[in-house]
Formats: sequence, C-alpha cells, structure tokens
Amino acid sequence: MVRIAVVEGDGIGHEVIPVSVRALTLLRPDFEFVTVEVGYHRWEETGCPCGDVDIAALKRADAVLFGAVTTPPMKNYQSVVLRIRKELDLYANLRPIRGNGFDILIVRENTEGLYSGIEEIGPDKATTLRVVTRGGTERIVRAAIHEVKRRNHLTVGHKANVLKSDVFFRDICLDEAKKAGVPCDEKYIDALALDILLHPSSYDVVVTTNIFGDILSDVASYLVGGLGMVPSANIGDRYALFEPVHGSAPTLAGKNVANPIAALRSAALLLEYLGDVPSAHRIESAIEWTVNRGVKTRDMGGHAKTTEFGDAVMMALAGTAR
Ligand code: NAI
Ligand code: MG
Repeated sequence: MVRIAVVEGDGIGHEVIPVSVRALTLLRPDFEFVTVEVGYHRWEETGCPCGDVDIAALKRADAVLFGAVTTPPMKNYQSVVLRIRKELDLYANLRPIRGNGFDILIVRENTEGLYSGIEEIGPDKATTLRVVTRGGTERIVRAAIHEVKRRNHLTVGHKANVLKSDVFFRDICLDEAKKAGVPCDEKYIDALALDILLHPSSYDVVVTTNIFGDILSDVASYLVGGLGMVPSANIGDRYALFEPVHGSAPTLAGKNVANPIAALRSAALLLEYLGDVPSAHRIESAIEWTVNRGVKTRDMGGHAKTTEFGDAVMMALAGTAR
C-alpha cells in the first residue's frame, strides 16, 4: 500500500482536490488515502489550525496532496502552509510552467528568506528578518542544478543591487553552477519578472529566494492561462507535498467553478515523484483531451463546472472517452 495524506484545506481546496483524488484512485488502486484536516476552518472550529498530530500524520505518508489554506492577515495567526513546509523541511518548491515553445521550472527556496518567520510587531515599528544561510542556499541551488535538463541552463533571480543577503545568495549560486559545469546567468528579479513574460523560451530553470519565487510564479502563470493551471512540488530530503500554486480563492469557493487543472497536475507530479511516470503522463493527456474537446472552466473562457471538467478527465482516464 502506498499511503497518501490528503489535505483539502480551505475554500476551493474542497472542490479541486477531490478531482485529483478521483484521478489517483482510478490510476492507482493501491493508493490508500488518509484525510488530514488543517486550515482556517479548523481554527474557527477548534482554535487550532494545525496540530502536532496532523504534522505527524503528514510525516507518516509516502506523499502529501494538498489543496490550499486560507491565511487571514492577522497578527497572531501562524500560516499553516509555512509551518508544514518548515516542519517537513520541504526546502525546494518546484513550479513548472510549460506552454507552446517554452518549458520553465521555477525553483523557489521554501524555508527561509523573508518567510523565515522571525518578525516583531510593535506599536510604531514592525520588522521581518530576511535570513539567507549558506546551507539553505547550497541545497536549493543544488536542487535546481539537479533539475537542469532540457536546455541545460540556470538563471539566478535576485536583487543583489539592493540586498546584501542576495549578494550572498547569488555568489553561492554562481559558484555551485560553475562547479557543476552548468551554464548560468543572473537577473535582477524585477527585470526577470517582465522578461520571463516577454521571452519565456529563453528560460530553463530559474532559482530564487522564497518571496521572489512566490511572486515570480504567480506572474509567470500568466503565460499558461493563470493560476488555475500551475502545479507545484514541495520536496525535502524525507518528505514531499504536492499542491497547486494557487490559494483557497474564497471568492470562487462553493460555486463549483474553480479550475481543477493545477490540482490534477499536482497529482501528476506526485505520481512522478513516486516513480510512476506513465500515470503522470496519462493525467496530462487526459487534461489535453478534455480541453481539446472544448470542456473549459470559467477562467479558461468556458462554462464547465469543476465537477464536469473532472467527469471528462475521468472518462479520458478510464478509456471510455469518445
Ligand atoms: P488565490 O490564488 O487563492 O486566488 C487569486 C485569484 O486567482 C482568484 O481570485 C481567482 O481569480 C484566481 N484563481 C486561483 N485559483 C484558481 C482556480 N483553481 N481556478 C480559477 N481561478 C483561480 O490567491 P489570493 O486570493 O491572494 O489568496 C486567497 C487565500 O489563499 C489567502 O488566504 C491566501 O493566504 C491563501 N493562499 C494559500 C496558499 C496555499 O495554501 N499554498 C497559496 C496562496 C494563497
Ligand atoms: Mg503564492
């Protein structure tokens, strides 16, 4: 039995993740699904958004499929997703953006940087410490170098003209790339955010710090039709979690209109991680078949409901598609 922990989370997580679970169930009858309830709704009901037992349940799984959680911008609320990434030490956040003529992988450092959680809020001043360590940088750039295939090129995104911590980050990245013999260049993150839209085909793997990777991947999702399309893998040395790049989208929640493609592609990344590349490809082909047949959700310019899109994908996967 392969054990998959399933976290729907909040908002549209309750709608898109069941579509992925249907696909995984069909493809892999040997998967056992364990539901783990964390998120804002849990906090509203119990005062605790994510307990130690939940973390333990995630750690017991072979992989985690995650929807999204709502994080209210409140002083005392600890982000569940940040806690999970830290506790499971999921340091590499891989965000593939593939389209016509381009195949980009954004590799975002996932445990430190501006999201290191070292902050203080006082009556007149608030500070957030941006932490970039040698160990943290070496392991993320090595993860990026490991992914450098296709056009064998690495781009380091940073803001070293302003931030000393990014001079540190950049130098380590360039050094590691040189040692590995990987062709590498660098770009200021603001210029990179525009250039990736203008010239997507000139990028292969892009490595960057936590917040920059967060923002860059939302920007780059424009290339493929928005946030409903982009999956991500959060990988550490011991654990792995797969989730759409998008959040809980509260304005769409409960309407059955969210696009489940990002969640389906996250399931495909999970299968790939577990060594089942053929099943991952079947998910991608089933999405393609569905879209080519004109079944599209609202964000894609269509009228299909989340569940209708899911039904079409299931037909394609089951081989009953006509
Ligand atoms: P969001 O990604 O949830 O939504 C932004 C907009 O993108 C939506 O209003 C919608 O127009 C579009 N969108 C996103 N996913 C879509 C889908 N599957 N289908 C169609 N359209 C889609 O980001 P937002 O609004 O900034 O954040 C909402 C909540 O989600 C916040 O509480 C935030 O903290 C949380 N969040 C959680 C993440 C996680 O759990 N990993 C990641 C990002 C945000
Ligand atoms: Mg984000």
